[in-house]
Amino acid sequence: MPAPFILALDQGTSSSRAIVFDRGGNIVSQAQQELRQHYPQPGWVEHDALEIWAGQQAVAADALARAGISASQIAAIGITNQRETTVLWDRDSGQPLHHAIVWQDRRTAPFCESLRQQGAADMIRDKTGLQLDAYFSASKLRWLLDNIPGARARAAAGKLAFGTIDSWLIWQLSGGRLHVSDVSNAARTMLFNIHTLQWDDELLALFDIPASVLPQVKSSSEVYGYSHPALFGVALPIAGAAGDQQAALFGQQCTRPGMVKNTYGTGCFMMLNTGTAPIASHHQLLTTIAWQLDGQVQYALEGSIFIGGSVVKWLRDGLGLIRHAAEVTALAAQVADSGGVYLVPAFAGLGAPHWQPEARGTLLGLSQGSSAAHIARAALDSIALQTMDVLAAMQADAGIAISELRVDGGACVNDLLMQFQSDMLGCQVLRPKITETTALGAAYLAGLAVGYWQGCADIQQQWQLERRFQPTMPASEVARYRAGWQRAVRSAIHWAQD
Ligand code: G3P
Repeated sequence: MPAPFILALDQGTSSSRAIVFDRGGNIVSQAQQELRQHYPQPGWVEHDALEIWAGQQAVAADALARAGISASQIAAIGITNQRETTVLWDRDSGQPLHHAIVWQDRRTAPFCESLRQQGAADMIRDKTGLQLDAYFSASKLRWLLDNIPGARARAAAGKLAFGTIDSWLIWQLSGGRLHVSDVSNAARTMLFNIHTLQWDDELLALFDIPASVLPQVKSSSEVYGYSHPALFGVALPIAGAAGDQQAALFGQQCTRPGMVKNTYGTGCFMMLNTGTAPIASHHQLLTTIAWQLDGQVQYALEGSIFIGGSVVKWLRDGLGLIRHAAEVTALAAQVADSGGVYLVPAFAGLGAPHWQPEARGTLLGLSQGSSAAHIARAALDSIALQTMDVLAAMQADAGIAISELRVDGGACVNDLLMQFQSDMLGCQVLRPKITETTALGAAYLAGLAVGYWQGCADIQQQWQLERRFQPTMPASEVARYRAGWQRAVRSAIHWAQD
């Protein structure tokens, strides 16, 4: 009898997760473990890659135990991951040379600025679809090679391997036999040409990266190899991988051009499926690879917002307004609106569509009557208002009016936020029954590769609506919010420039 389940491993920025799915796309069991964040200097963010691997082993075992199944009942493993985060390890020992440099880390911003001064931004954007920014892997990898004593010589001797988190996990799962990545992750390195689907020599030279460290790039849905038998007692096919935002797009069944999703995680990431042709952005969005499936590449436009759900963490840890993240809704609901208060959470600069690395967080419109509840409300509003800016850029780039937005990620369970989101966008917000769409997308990609599901038509019907939010706010009020927000964003940007 064919194995009845798929195991998805989801390595996010703040946690390691494993979810067992059945053929109906239902969650059978799940396990999660927090991941420690390291902040060695202001603006620097690191993860311990060994802790990531240990966490993944623990949650995978836990998810199987909770489901009451053995590994032999797993048809395939799918991987999905925080993107851009950069690991460099020794091929012989499998030991990382340094903590992983996380996507949020800004240490290479001055180097990126120097490349901009040299006029490299256009060439980079043409080849990779990306904005020249420290967000992506290339400058982080260069930093590791330049700052770890002896790294460049060891790389030249073929001793070192670079990977994003998908590569790192597949390497570990396979007992060091596989050094691969998928196109959706490679597209975020700033070293990969999204048109030729090859590592790009000109970019490698620009960032001074030796080709010897690079993984082999594969499609998002194929059997890359097998897990080492010592891990699960059986060798399981490792059969799918995609960056978490691309996996969420797939899990949301946004498989046709024009379909769009927004994930409310640490950051917020909106993606629009643009079909088999990459659309160059004229409004500061990213052009990126969604996935490669059955030989066919699909592309997407993406708006990446750096601080989304994590603004709530700041209310908790930075301001001490709440003790638990879940308390934010009750606090924000104490007031009818933000009372004219705006929070622009540009704590690490602003991503799409502004790309202002020097912008800083700004709290505006305070009066004597402003309370903690108003600030909490403004924090939630900021998630939706940033998303509004990205959607406007996306509509302008794609030349279409977007009438429906599918949502997922932790903060999408917040009804107050989703209603405000619908009001600000002027479009319907659709929340599916399964909001774990990132892991589900990875499960689909792996399951399709091993014939667990026969094709996209087999899974198309599995997406089910849980709740639809419709815009109800009067146009004059929406206009007032928009105008206030735009002034607030200008202040956050000018704060750094004046
Ligand atoms: O590009 C960064 C993104 O992949 C991180 O996702 O879900 O860990 O916030 P998340």
